Amino acid sequence: TSSRCRYSYEEYKETADWLLAQTKQRPKVAIICGSGLGGLADLLVDKTVLKYETIPHFPTSTVPGHAGQLVFGKLDGRECVCMQGRVHFYEGYDIHTVTYPVRVFSLLGVKTLIVTNAAGGLNDSYNVGDIMLIKDHINLPGFAGQTPLCGHNDERFGERFSCMSDAYDRELRDLAKQAAKEQGCGGFLQEGVYCMVAGPSYETIAEGRLLQKLGADSVGMSTVPEVVVARHCGLRVLGLSLVTNKVVVDYDSVQKANHTEVLKTTKSRTEDLQRLVRYLVSKI
Ligand code: 6GU
Repeated sequence: TSSRCRYSYEEYKETADWLLAQTKQRPKVAIICGSGLGGLADLLVDKTVLKYETIPHFPTSTVPGHAGQLVFGKLDGRECVCMQGRVHFYEGYDIHTVTYPVRVFSLLGVKTLIVTNAAGGLNDSYNVGDIMLIKDHINLPGFAGQTPLCGHNDERFGERFSCMSDAYDRELRDLAKQAAKEQGCGGFLQEGVYCMVAGPSYETIAEGRLLQKLGADSVGMSTVPEVVVARHCGLRVLGLSLVTNKVVVDYDSVQKANHTEVLKTTKSRTEDLQRLVRYLVSKI
């Protein structure tokens, strides 16, 4: 069951109804936790924890550092649902499977989606450990036809042609900037454009340079499909990228991108990110 071309409305509904029967929580906010950022879910209280493999039709993850469970609970008194671990396109799942949980969240009554990820820094002025508020994205796999709204459009979720120029909610971004200041993260908060690539290989030097020229400030292997689906069904979106390493764009550099470095940086900033998200959720 690793890969499906598309799902019917009834399947999403079946998952949502099953989840509603497992928990008393009725979250208005969903949080997708990126690589090594799942610690946030541990902060929830009055938890209902459901392993992905037990949830009807839900995709299961295979990457180390991604737990693979849905956690319902209260964060700072607000009911939330957290994806502790997400599935990625590079794992071999098709794009409809990757975004399956987002439509389920919408059917649960969720109105706001917060997404976090680990990303490579492309902007020269960024430092490892910076938190980048996503202002906009480039759906590079989408340009090549790998995008979740392709295929039959179910009007019960949204319209055929979705607007993406307002994908990342301005109000939520303003709130995040204020939150960062108040939480002592202001010194390393950036705002920029996130570019998705399919991965799982990191960029060549020429590719890194290309992405810089395209106007991307950070690059990663997730998030964009989920955001596209979230916007299609009318969810408000806030995205946060943790810059875990700098993309190599210099032929003289001896630096090499690697997953160990990504996880190491994530560990050092995970508490800052958690504080930020927690504060944000309390204000939404
Ligand atoms: Cl350097 N590239 C991509 N594509 N994803 C990343 C990354 C780099 N660092 C963390 N995630």
